[in-house]
Amino acid sequence: MSPRSHRIGVIPGDGTGPEVVREGLKVLEAVRSGFDVEPVAFDLGGERYLRTGEILPEEELARLKETDGILLGAIGHPEVRPGILERALLLRIRFELDEYVNLRPVIRYPGVKTLVPSHTEDDVNFVVVRENSEGLYGGAGGFHRKGTEHEVAVQESINTRHGVERIVRYAFEYARRPDRRKKLTLVHKTNVLTYAGDLYQRVVDELAQEFADVETDYVHVDAACIFFLAEPSRFDVIVTDNMFGDIITDLGAMIQGGMGLAAGGNINPQGVSMFEPIGGSAPRHTGTGAINPLAAIGALQMLLENLGEEEAAARVDAGIRFACSKLPSMRAGEMGYTTSEVGDLVVEGASA
Ligand code: IPM
Ligand code: MN
Repeated sequence: MSPRSHRIGVIPGDGTGPEVVREGLKVLEAVRSGFDVEPVAFDLGGERYLRTGEILPEEELARLKETDGILLGAIGHPEVRPGILERALLLRIRFELDEYVNLRPVIRYPGVKTLVPSHTEDDVNFVVVRENSEGLYGGAGGFHRKGTEHEVAVQESINTRHGVERIVRYAFEYARRPDRRKKLTLVHKTNVLTYAGDLYQRVVDELAQEFADVETDYVHVDAACIFFLAEPSRFDVIVTDNMFGDIITDLGAMIQGGMGLAAGGNINPQGVSMFEPIGGSAPRHTGTGAINPLAAIGALQMLLENLGEEEAAARVDAGIRFACSKLPSMRAGEMGYTTSEVGDLVVEGASA
């Protein structure tokens, strides 16, 4: 019998993306056992855009849809005006592949120092299930009388019954996983966003009947920021909309130890999912060997889990934990190791 094989789309992208993806692929080769990988490279990002004017040609999109999963480095180029690549590349892939879940684990690994010295690794262990296909990211709205003194800018949050229901259902199901504590917290702003928040709350209340074994809770998004610092242990699985999820997961990254550790998945449970370090292209650190690859390696771990390669994923996890026990800091330039040496540490820990 020939071994399982996975076609993995690789988008190194911009800035430090290629450096961290290289470490991810190095770790993948080290933990791969019992299955084959067919990497499919994609030249997408700011460089290609500046060179050819193309951002995401149809045929590239079609090739992406033919993969089993995607590993993305970073999108964002200092010479490209903000908003262009984000919308036409990153968000377009999320939307076209209908990756409606943005899954962001917030886990404090042993030995990692953060800005909140009172937190222990038992305190910080939750996941954020961020809606990834609508809300304020839907692009609804427009300008009126642009550039005049009576200018109007409208940016609307679109929340569909279908969209809210599928993300809340995913979160409830996630809360039942054996590694979770069966608690789901809706984070929103129901005291002000009385339509969108109301829809989210009603859907949570309805599905709570079906998931009677899962405890539910509600926290306003501003209060959630307080609890991330003051009492993170109250969270197990958080479900929230696209914009709130974007914001609170950066705070989540900081209580993990920094952006250098924060990985996320853009998941379509029935389709092709894409995994990425959430920190961006870090132009300041490009090519210096200072960037932390652990977030990209964490993204690889999530990709392996998504492909059903639990054993390989567990080895990556062990490798990341080993590297965390060695690094004095997760911040670029303060790690005491180069990007590639951190990748080597992960390989060492994964092989132990
Ligand atoms: C993220 C990023 C993106 C987002 C940007 C780059 C469009 O901040 O993945 O969190 O807002 O979703
Ligand atoms: Mn973000």
